[in-house]
Amino acid sequence: MKKINIAIDGPAGAGKSTISKLLASQLGYIHIDTGAMYRAVGLKVLKNNISPHDSRKIVEILNSTDIQIKLVDGRQLVFLDGEDVTEKIRQPEVSMYASDVSKIREVRERLVKMQQELAKQKGVIMDGRDIGTHVLPNAELKIFLTATAEERAKRRFLELKQKGYEVDYYQLLDEIKKRDQNDMTREFAPLRVAEDAIVIDSTSLSIEEVLQKVLELFYKVV
Ligand code: C5P
Repeated sequence: MKKINIAIDGPAGAGKSTISKLLASQLGYIHIDTGAMYRAVGLKVLKNNISPHDSRKIVEILNSTDIQIKLVDGRQLVFLDGEDVTEKIRQPEVSMYASDVSKIREVRERLVKMQQELAKQKGVIMDGRDIGTHVLPNAELKIFLTATAEERAKRRFLELKQKGYEVDYYQLLDEIKKRDQNDMTREFAPLRVAEDAIVIDSTSLSIEEVLQKVLELFYKVV
């Protein structure tokens, strides 16, 4: 069977990572979570006490920042300046920083180059906001996964609570709406549905149902 590239885009908390991981293990594909790369830049900015809106300083530290993605047993590990930050980038306070730094053109250009390099060999499921529209415009299958902001906030709330974080549902809902707004209105590579993407609204679907839908689409393409 020929190997293809699959782009999975959508707003925060729509289930992109969950679906991508399951799909990757089922198909023997590689899953690349591009949000993790923006989170690594966000973490660096946070650690250095830099305002996430100070693009001049961010571009400056970006030049001396090393971000590496390593795939170990199908799991994506993220290294920031040599340190494994795979767990740290999931801290709730990193989310808004990632969203803010992702508006900066130079940040996007640097990360997009890495993402395109990782997808060269095909057999990649890449999830993010601009994969089908900008990073991999020739991906053979493009999915836009969405759900209502309330449902996405609920899922994020349960996920973070399970990991032991003290979070407030309404605060998460507010943050998700702000991140959506940031992502959709930024000048460079905003979040939008690619012309040839298939939209799946997962609000009232189970993970298994979404997975089945994507698999059906996959087998139509290969
Ligand atoms: O997907 P995740 O929520 O981990 O992404 C963190 C942030 O990174 C998002 O809020 C979004 O602003 C940004 N992002 C992006 N483009 C991508 C992936 C993520 O702008 N391809």
